[in-house]
Amino acid sequence: MADKRRFELFAGFIVEHFPAPRIFDIAGGQGRLNEALSQLGRTVTTFDLRHKHLPVRYAQRPFTLEEPCEADMVVGMHPDGATRIIIEYAAKHRLPFAVVPCCSDNSMPYKPWMRHLAERARELGFPTVAEHPLPMEGRARVLFGTFDVDG
Ligand SMILES: C[S@@+](CC[C@H](N)C(=O)[O-])C[C@H]1O[C@@H](n2cnc3c(N)ncnc32)[C@H](O)[C@@H]1O
Repeated sequence: MADKRRFELFAGFIVEHFPAPRIFDIAGGQGRLNEALSQLGRTVTTFDLRHKHLPVRYAQRPFTLEEPCEADMVVGMHPDGATRIIIEYAAKHRLPFAVVPCCSDNSMPYKPWMRHLAERARELGFPTVAEHPLPMEGRARVLFGTFDVDG
């Protein structure tokens, strides 16, 4: 069972470290991260497939690399099969990203999956790639990448 505090904790981390006013929240489920970030003053669009979701700005479709870029940052909480796309999309548009990976898209165990994602981000040109633990149960490590020190 994922930790219920994950959205507030991740939103707090994002707002503390990244000034991005417009955020794409990928694989955002019902939109709880969107809600938490919106309460902190960010403009957020959630991409996921859920018919039932919170009354937030919601794009009910799979997120792909072809999505027009209307964001200053891309994030994902436990985004499963969308994790790699988030990093690739951020690299394509030279945006910062922050993800809290959970399951891999290829059955890789958690630690090798984290290493693989960090290597992929570096390969794609992110000069800064780092991890930050959130104080919660379960898969709780943020992997983030930036092109400059201010995000
Ligand atoms: C484990 S759930 C996490 C949902 C939410 N972020 C949370 O923490 O409760 C993974 C979500 O990824 C979504 N997903 C996977 N690939 C996606 C894609 N390409 N675009 C949008 N959503 C995707 C699924 O529909 C599912 O809702």
